[in-house]
Amino acid sequence: MGKLTYLTGITTTGTPHLGNYVGAYRPGIEASHKADINSFYFLADYHALVKNQDPAHLHRSSLEVAATWLACGLDTERSVFYRQSDIPEIPELTWILGSVTAKGLMNRAHAYKAAVQANLEAGNKDPDKGITMALFSYPVLMAADILMFKADRVPVGRDQKQHVEMARDIAQRFNHIYGELFVLPQAEIGEHTAVLTGLDGRKMSKSYNNIIPLFAPEKQLRKLIMKIKTNSLEPGEPKDPEGSTIFEIYQAFATPEETAEMRRKFAEGIAWGQAKQELFEYLNEHLRAARDEYNRLIADPGHVEHVLRAGAERARELAAPFMDEIRHAVGIRPLA
Ligand code: TRP
Repeated sequence: MGKLTYLTGITTTGTPHLGNYVGAYRPGIEASHKADINSFYFLADYHALVKNQDPAHLHRSSLEVAATWLACGLDTERSVFYRQSDIPEIPELTWILGSVTAKGLMNRAHAYKAAVQANLEAGNKDPDKGITMALFSYPVLMAADILMFKADRVPVGRDQKQHVEMARDIAQRFNHIYGELFVLPQAEIGEHTAVLTGLDGRKMSKSYNNIIPLFAPEKQLRKLIMKIKTNSLEPGEPKDPEGSTIFEIYQAFATPEETAEMRRKFAEGIAWGQAKQELFEYLNEHLRAARDEYNRLIADPGHVEHVLRAGAERARELAAPFMDEIRHAVGIRPLA
């Protein structure tokens, strides 16, 4: 059997946080070092446009997301690392896929349905109020990302599973009409991939404004950890590690032995302030080297740009000839 191809995209809408790291960057980077898979990693900056219409913010986020991949040790020799917008074949394929995608399929997309639901709940007469075509056709662009590089597996969180299934549906439809050009992708939901809780007890997410940036400077990191919500148990009272955000974040980074030790401290009634201090010290040490590298990269955007362009060149070596095949298959061919 040939190697499986994995593909992961990260939308450039904000500063990478601890939740992004354990949910996407870390598993992706581990995969990039494996010899038995081909992997593709990219910055989904066209997807970011859907949610982010602040040019300076989008631009900055692209640098931060790229620097995070590199600082965390992505193997850019073994894998292909690029920026979506550097591959003109992606929007081109998006259009072609759009012509075999049922509008009804898009009507069922969770993100679109949630936006309509929010309008209805707000009492808006127009259920599509404020909904752009880009939001509506987001899954078609995502299908182009995936199908262009013949990805077999797409590691994603649960919220993205439907999008990968839609890519599969779209590929099937295309293959049925024009011949078997596309590989049918499958979502891979990491059962052991941790989902982290944020400062306020809800899922850590930029939309809840409850994040801890992965590479927050030392002082800010400490300040944010001190803000994590806890219950009112006093020092000396035994504490349940389950349901504690402090414990959960610690566990996501620590070894099993270190985690067992922390569990013991909870049972012995460690004070919340002390538990936070220990979490801070642990993370600060653990992230120090990568944070230094991140800061070096942020200060040298020319280097990051260079790495992305080199990656785009490799990606286009695959995308351009495949796009020719696709165009040919649908009848867009030279006349003579
Ligand atoms: N939609 C994904 C997210 O918000 C990002 C993404 C864009 C992606 N294109 C992709 C993920 C292709 C996997 C494959 O998380």
